[in-house]
Amino acid sequence: HWTAEEKQLIASLWGKVNVEECGAEALARLLIVYPWTQRFFSSFGNLSSPTAIIGNPKVRAHGKKVLTSFGEAVKNLDNIKATYSKLSELHCEKLHVDPENFRLLGDILIIVLASHFAKDFTPACQFAWQKLVGVVAHALARKYH
Ligand code: HEM
Repeated sequence: HWTAEEKQLIASLWGKVNVEECGAEALARLLIVYPWTQRFFSSFGNLSSPTAIIGNPKVRAHGKKVLTSFGEAVKNLDNIKATYSKLSELHCEKLHVDPENFRLLGDILIIVLASHFAKDFTPACQFAWQKLVGVVAHALARKYH
């Protein structure tokens, strides 16, 4: 269900993404903008202020892990459900993350990409990425269905 143009837009932007930097920023923004998501990360230490969250090395490391995992979706666009089958089990059955939060993280990622890539993040590019984060959120929530 991807057009050649969408695949190209996703791949070419992904090629420029610094996974460590953008991953850390996306997770930090999630925790700051939607503070209730902090409750899943009580083992991460100090999350008491935006500055603490941005500087927290566990947040940075986990953000990198999450965005690296997002890269698996980019590499397997036609097989995203299977790619996230195990992770869906983890998030749904073990961690009990409300699937609404997958959508929130996806939207945050869009904002991070827009702010990093500005001009390159064209409306067509946003369309393709918005579709991708939707499919990823759906795949991660699958074990709830
Ligand atoms: C763990 C990916 C969204 C909460 C993980 C791991 C990955 C991952 C790869 C590590 C799994 C492992 O160690 O085997 C993703 C992706 C997401 C996403 C791709 C969406 C695009 C979320 C959201 C939350 C969340 C929205 C909560 C608000 C957690 C927690 C862990 C985890 C609590 C375990 C952390 C730990 O203690 O190490 N996720 N995640 N995830 N995720 Fe997610």
